[in-house]
Amino acid sequence: IQVLSIASECAPLVKTGGLADVAGALPAALSGQGVQMRTLLPGYPGVMSSLSGASHLESFDDLFGGPAQLLAGQAEGLDLLVIDAPHLYQREGNPYLGPDGLDWPDNPERFAALSWVGAMIGARGAGGWQPQILHGHDWQAGLVTEYLRQMQGADVHTVLTIHNISFTGTVDPGRMHALRLDPARFHSEGFEFWGAISALKAGLMGADRLTTVSPRYAEELMTPEFGMGLDGVIRHRRDALVGILNGIDQSIWTPATDPMITPYDNPKGKAANKAALRAEMGLPESEGPLCVIVSRMTHQKGLDLVLQALPALLEGGGQLALLGSGDAELQNAFVNAAFGPNVAVRIGYDEAFSHLMIAGGDAILVPSRFEPCGLTQLYGLRYGTIPLVALTGGLADTVINASPAALARGVATGLQFSPINSDTLRHAMARLCTLYKDRKTWLRMQRNAMSQPVGWDQSAKAYAALYAELVAG
Ligand code: ADP
Ligand code: GLC
Repeated sequence: IQVLSIASECAPLVKTGGLADVAGALPAALSGQGVQMRTLLPGYPGVMSSLSGASHLESFDDLFGGPAQLLAGQAEGLDLLVIDAPHLYQREGNPYLGPDGLDWPDNPERFAALSWVGAMIGARGAGGWQPQILHGHDWQAGLVTEYLRQMQGADVHTVLTIHNISFTGTVDPGRMHALRLDPARFHSEGFEFWGAISALKAGLMGADRLTTVSPRYAEELMTPEFGMGLDGVIRHRRDALVGILNGIDQSIWTPATDPMITPYDNPKGKAANKAALRAEMGLPESEGPLCVIVSRMTHQKGLDLVLQALPALLEGGGQLALLGSGDAELQNAFVNAAFGPNVAVRIGYDEAFSHLMIAGGDAILVPSRFEPCGLTQLYGLRYGTIPLVALTGGLADTVINASPAALARGVATGLQFSPINSDTLRHAMARLCTLYKDRKTWLRMQRNAMSQPVGWDQSAKAYAALYAELVAG
């Protein structure tokens, strides 16, 4: 089966979050399942410079405001189709934000172009290659189905994966013409969303199948609390929706072979990494657990709750090391908080250091208000770094809470708290400190965590089955 994956970011070429990890890992994960996946990406500087042996496939005189070409090439083991459109993508830094930290004003056009070229490849193929399925990710690929309607050509199937419904790609209807949308489709069964154009809504209505990145989030999306205004649309399409859990790329995230840490294959081996992490972050020795956070700093991630609950961790002898970047207010709050010597904060984005954080921590905190899947708790499991997580989305689906029953049966892998607020987090932190002192139980949890399957095997099969079903009609 031939599939074109359409993504706005893809690790290791361009990454702001888990979407990139997933887009980067899917092709290899699926190749063992008889799926040939190529990935369509915007030609950001980092993508263009990594591309080797690029060949020219198509030229466009006017791709949403300027000339462009479609290239094919390889990079980092990925089989890529790249849109070389300097007027849209030749901008350094974050793929979505300008130097002022705000969305680029022409993001609607930039990703409309991605969707448009994706649809075109679906309709007419590219360089003689014809995908049977267009698999888009998030709002940036939402308009694929609208453009496909406008194009004559192959009968191609469409899948849209929701990585995060809080980004809806909403824009004023005045942009309809610029976005090459058909005004006749500006209604609630099309791409209209509360009086605006929404690329995500278009895809949610138009795609043959919808997926999201955990079963629990698939359920949550149907509720007003998590659906962010699109819950009605999701309920309408519930028969088309399935939750397929993300995996992690074990060629990168395996403690026994990780070149960015002191490798280990059992929990004892964490000690050297913990010492290195402490040294790096200037943290003293402590009695309690060294907790780590590796995260975008946004409202979603619930880090303000950590600020409030942290005294419970410190009173239990615990420590916190945070690596993150995002909202200036949250960054400042962490940098300026006077929690004393047992809290260390590094503002920034550092892929290599994130490995030492996860290897060196005793526990990893993920207190998200919502979390479609979450990857860092999976890294935690793999590295024997006990996840303490909010009971939501993929965090609920991947961690086995240390309840009395789970402890009695010896199956716990982490801690969960709910409802999601600073009081329950405080309790969970205290519970973590107590558990940590019970060395036998803690070791058991670490062993359970490290042996839990967190790779792509199962989920790759689920995607392959979904594609096969679509192709079989
Ligand atoms: P989200 O996509 O919502 O940010 P995920 O947990 O799915 O959440 O994925 C986040 C990814 O980004 C993980 O690979 C994580 O390690 C990485 N990451 C987040 N913040 C940082 C940072 N400051 N430095 C390095 N890696 C980070
Ligand atoms: C989004 C979600 C995160 C998920 C990632 C990859 O960024 O916030 O939970 O793991 O996409 O699917």
